[in-house]
Amino acid sequence: MSIPVLDRLERPLKDLRISVTDRCNFRCVYCMPKQVFGKDFRFIPHSDMLSFEEIARLARLFVARGVEKIRLTGGEPLLRKNVERLIEQLSRLKTPEGRPIDLTLTTNGSMLAKKAQTLFDAGLKRITVSLDALDDTVFRQMNDVDFSVRDVLHGIDTALAVGFDPVKVNTVVKKGMNEHQVLPLARHFRNSPVIVRFIEYMDVGSSNDWEEREIIPSEKLIRLIGSEMPIEPLDRHYAGETAERWRYRDGSGEIGFIASVTQAFCRDCTRLRLSTEGKLYKCLFATDGHDIRSMLRDGWSDDEISSALAQHWQERDNRYSELRANNTLPLAGSKKIEMSYIGG
Ligand code: GTP
Ligand code: 5AD
Ligand code: SF4
Ligand code: SF4
Repeated sequence: MSIPVLDRLERPLKDLRISVTDRCNFRCVYCMPKQVFGKDFRFIPHSDMLSFEEIARLARLFVARGVEKIRLTGGEPLLRKNVERLIEQLSRLKTPEGRPIDLTLTTNGSMLAKKAQTLFDAGLKRITVSLDALDDTVFRQMNDVDFSVRDVLHGIDTALAVGFDPVKVNTVVKKGMNEHQVLPLARHFRNSPVIVRFIEYMDVGSSNDWEEREIIPSEKLIRLIGSEMPIEPLDRHYAGETAERWRYRDGSGEIGFIASVTQAFCRDCTRLRLSTEGKLYKCLFATDGHDIRSMLRDGWSDDEISSALAQHWQERDNRYSELRANNTLPLAGSKKIEMSYIGG
């Protein structure tokens, strides 16, 4: 058995979220607003990106150190050429106890209909699709590239048809933009195997001009949905789970609420994030990353890198959302990383 690596708040390292590209074909207004991510925006050049071999090597070292779950993110991860080749390598990883790791991916669904089968064949067995509205006009306004709801729904249906289980849908709820889409989305995915989760809009990065009054607290959404479709809470799958799980009382499915602002879950946060260019971030709201790429490219041995990774985690004391909730955040200094760079 591996000895868990604990951070300063005694949290074990369990999840690794790997961003494989900082590019996206959407310009969601709350994530990659066009005024910031326009024609002149400089994305990470290819030579600076970790190769699949480099990512797979790091992933193997992390799994040996206790990581049980790996999520591929972006930007839009399906834009990374041949990402299936990476999935093939990661899906073979086993924990020191011999269990397969939990491998998953978050996508905007735009290329899912085309890619679902090859992703599944490469070894990906579950997937999360972001979808913020069922109304086509609202969705087009939010993705800001005129992409239709129909095509994302087709992607979700294809993922179900090829055998992905579960398929989850993530919906960021922003006041004045899509809160009226919550009931239609819940109704749509009820009686289906899809688990939709409503996320409180967060102050990630510095491009979205976040204001606290734009959040709709999960508590309010639970009441809203519950008043039309009776629901009851389910036990958490594990400590530190982002979503509060609920089920429809009549057995017609599961939904979730991610109260990342009003009920911060830092205390049990076991997540570490690896950027496309090989920097580690100890929190979604971090400002500085720790460069790992140079270790890989300067010939460090597996043991040397593994010790450095463990030491990095041991120094972690991040708990941004709790500090925000207590009004004890340090005064803004350096710029926070963007969601499109680090992948949620
Ligand atoms: P499952 O294992 O499928 O339940 O995944 P997950 O909920 O752990 O990951 P997912 O990427 O689907 O997370 C959903 C949303 O929760 C993200 O898009 C973020 O908005 C938010 N989130 C995920 N991880 C964190 C975190 O560590 N901190 C904060 N503040 N929010 C997070
Ligand atoms: N707050 C909450 N969730 C966000 N996402 C992107 N930006 C934000 C934000 N500011 C979500 C997307 C997607 C995932 C990558 O992160 O909707 O589901
Ligand atoms: Fe939208 Fe996700 Fe792309 Fe951000 S990374 S613009 S949330 S699709
Ligand atoms: Fe983890 Fe940071 Fe999110 Fe808290 S704010 S749950 S420490 S990633």
